[in-house]
Amino acid sequence: MRTKYRLLPENERKSPPPKGTDLPFGMLRTNHMFMMDYADGEWHDPRIVPYAPISLMPGAMCFHYGQSFFEGIKAFRHEDGEIYIFRPDENAKRQNHSADVLCMPSIPVETQLDAIHRLVDVERDWCPSEPQSSLYIRPFMFATQDALGVKPSKTLLYCIMLSPSGAYYKGGFNHVVRLLISKKYHRAVSGGTGTAKAAGNYAASIKPQIYAQSFGVEQVLYLNADNTCIEEVGTMNHYHVLKDGTFVIPEFGDSILRSVTSVSVLELAAAGKLKARQEVVYLDKFIEDVKSGEIIEAGGLGTACVVSPVGSYIFEDNSEMVVGNGEIGEHSRRLYEMYSAIQTGRAPAPAGWLSKVPRY
Ligand code: COI
Repeated sequence: MRTKYRLLPENERKSPPPKGTDLPFGMLRTNHMFMMDYADGEWHDPRIVPYAPISLMPGAMCFHYGQSFFEGIKAFRHEDGEIYIFRPDENAKRQNHSADVLCMPSIPVETQLDAIHRLVDVERDWCPSEPQSSLYIRPFMFATQDALGVKPSKTLLYCIMLSPSGAYYKGGFNHVVRLLISKKYHRAVSGGTGTAKAAGNYAASIKPQIYAQSFGVEQVLYLNADNTCIEEVGTMNHYHVLKDGTFVIPEFGDSILRSVTSVSVLELAAAGKLKARQEVVYLDKFIEDVKSGEIIEAGGLGTACVVSPVGSYIFEDNSEMVVGNGEIGEHSRRLYEMYSAIQTGRAPAPAGWLSKVPRY
């Protein structure tokens, strides 16, 4: 299948924000997007077209039953002026996992990568180079069949849009988060959709986030359904750091999203760059170890924030538990610096981690 291009004439294109702009996260759009239709059991008509509203029937199943998922990937402008996408193959594999969980069709990894590369090539001028900025790539797929029976949609749309973005939080890595340990709300359960980047998982996380805000904190620490184990933090995987500098990430299991950031941290550990492992993290033991000083740092790992340090945990009785000295720890800082140096080309990347955008 050949991708068709229907590009705006130069004089109708918006210009990218000038160099040095303090970019918000996820608010700006480029001129074009990628689209591809699914019908009759096949993907059809891959195309790059102007970024514009999409027309759907009111009965389109995505509106009613939420058969929809997304991915998040980042591209970086390196000093050589070229654009490099960070591990898009990992996201493409995870996309196919999400599709499987939600009974939606997969797209060959090579086809996904080709679409991403072609779109970013068209929009290469939009890739920023400021510290903590990136061209955020947002692939997504949703059900378009106009039918009210609950079943897999026979037609779907797959799109990719781009957003030149700064850090997720104002202050970026230096923003220290407080978390509510919620026993009231859960993100996912065993056998549910927690391992997929299902749109509905994020819809369901808004109320818990507002609940957390009522305690004066920003995000939720999600536990498993029986409130015994730590699972995720906000939209990220959780980590803590032991006194000896080891990063501990909860076992992915079948209710935790496989964060590409966590996978990469574990691979860096396997290559001897840091100490990290996965295990089931029991809440009681975690609390005991934070209080005794056995755990000295904690935070979240995800594409948008990369590393998001946590200063303290709030319980639903309003008591607070500070981690370490409540500030950003040296291990979290070192990981963030190592990781962003790899992404931006200031340190060598492990083989296959950076995908240079071809000039088509
Ligand atoms: C991520 O950081 O991986 C995310 O999915 C964040 C996104 C919801 C903005």
